[in-house]
Amino acid sequence: MIQFLLNQELRSEHALDPNLTVLEYLREHLGKSGTKEGCASGDCGACTVVVGELSKAEDGSEHIRYRSLNSCLTFVSSLHGKQLISVEDLKHQGKLHSVQQAMADCHGSQCGFCTPGFVMSLFALQKNSDAPDLHKAQEALAGNLCRCTGYRPILAAAEQACCQAGGDQFDAGEAQTIARLQAIAPKDIGELNSGDKRCLVPLTVADLADLYGSHPEARLLAGGTDLALEVTQFHRALPVMIYVGNVAEMKRIERFDDRLEIGAATPLTDCHDALTAEYPDFGELLHRFASLQIRNQGTLGGNIGNASPIGDSPPLLIALGAQIVLRKGEATRTLALEDYFIDYRITARQESEFIEKIIVPRAQAQWKFRAYKVSKRLDDDISAVCAAFNLRIENGLVAEARVAFGGMAAIPKRAKACEASLLGKTWNQAAVERACTALADDFTPLSDFRASKEYRLLSAQNLLRKYFIELQSPHIETRVTAYV
Ligand SMILES: Cc1cc2nc3c(=O)[nH]c(=O)nc-3n(C[C@H](O)[C@H](O)[C@H](O)COP(=O)(O)OP(=O)(O)OC[C@H]3O[C@@H](n4cnc5c(N)ncnc54)[C@H](O)[C@@H]3O)c2cc1C
Ligand code: FES
Ligand code: FES
Repeated sequence: MIQFLLNQELRSEHALDPNLTVLEYLREHLGKSGTKEGCASGDCGACTVVVGELSKAEDGSEHIRYRSLNSCLTFVSSLHGKQLISVEDLKHQGKLHSVQQAMADCHGSQCGFCTPGFVMSLFALQKNSDAPDLHKAQEALAGNLCRCTGYRPILAAAEQACCQAGGDQFDAGEAQTIARLQAIAPKDIGELNSGDKRCLVPLTVADLADLYGSHPEARLLAGGTDLALEVTQFHRALPVMIYVGNVAEMKRIERFDDRLEIGAATPLTDCHDALTAEYPDFGELLHRFASLQIRNQGTLGGNIGNASPIGDSPPLLIALGAQIVLRKGEATRTLALEDYFIDYRITARQESEFIEKIIVPRAQAQWKFRAYKVSKRLDDDISAVCAAFNLRIENGLVAEARVAFGGMAAIPKRAKACEASLLGKTWNQAAVERACTALADDFTPLSDFRASKEYRLLSAQNLLRKYFIELQSPHIETRVTAYV
């Protein structure tokens, strides 16, 4: 059984199809049709809901952390122990919620199809920011598309909603909601099943290892932002899933003198602050990673686990020399991330083995790390090319080089010929030009709808040139923001 709060109502579910999304559950099972389906692929935000989860502050006290999610990519099993808030829950005692009122006052809605999604994103923004500014509002809304109103009135609504003092019914009832969430906090493995389909929800890494050992055929479900597409876009059934998002040890970020250890099930939003503190470019890239809804549910482990050639974090992690800890039963092994990717969607992961954590070396002054993402749009778009450069330059010579790319091969990959051509050489324009030529030996990229092979290679070379120029002139702030 799984349990969660639907706003304040306790729901206990057992016999539900584990392939059921929260969007379908709301609309078809509960008749709550305020949440809309636009694309069923995480692109439009019409299906945005907010999920509240208990979170511990440093002093040990608990509060509720609210996040906006795309309900079209969220399976119901991942609600276990949480609070689901949909647009129907905002109106209170006959009065619109302040974010709804702001949308009405500022004329932020025309046909209205996108409006519930915008309202829920604004609600999450209001809950999460003490002093939201235009930048935060744009970030919160970048995953919501509107075909008719135009964004100016919606941003005006964001400003009005977030500047208003005074709480709402959720603030007034917070203590009660915390008590309810504590009362339903999962104590054992949860399960949803229907016929021969099931989703298991372990709470500890040991239980996850055991379950995966006894169900090697299971698909691991983290944020579901890739996996759910198999159901919603390709109409495949996933008969057995194991949800890793409630495994506490895999949602932690631990900081050591020389490294960060990031649990594989840590949402990308939570990785953002820790990685930005070490590597500002990593933080910038995460800003450009999908939308806030996707970053709130997508995980670092899932971004590696899907083994996509255009996943954004792997080239950066490879250039940083990151390692992953793989676990099978009680045995663990540590692998350089670059050795994890073998061929297109083929990895070194064995049966019943999973990524437990990612080890990222902490920043060192001698290493110069930069990352660049080239995509058609600034927000909510997947890379045509993603590049990460990390050089150690000593007395004007390249002492060590780690250069990695996404979008240039069937896997995220180091550019070994490029690195070799730089090693031991004076770090100057001539060396960079030789390294650009060597990149053509490293990669034979493909042409697809994102970019042609010629464009990809030229972009990769130009990004190396850009890196060189930026290191020569550190005041130039053009990082990460390149467009096709
Ligand atoms: C609209 C949209 C925009 C996107 N934009 C971007 C983008 O800009 N950049 C980008 O890189 N990606 C993007 N993605 C892809 C996706 O969001 C990311 O890859 C995300 O990090 C996946 O994480 P997840 O937790 O949702 O993984 P899931 O979907 O839960 O899992 C993905 C795969 O990894 C496996 N897996 C999950 N956890 C583990 C584990 N611990 N060990 C082993 N295997 C595991 C799963 O079994 C599955 O095969 C986008 C997706 C959408 C829908
Ligand atoms: S329906 Fe478009 S993001 Fe979910
Ligand atoms: S109001 Fe029509 S799509 Fe936004």
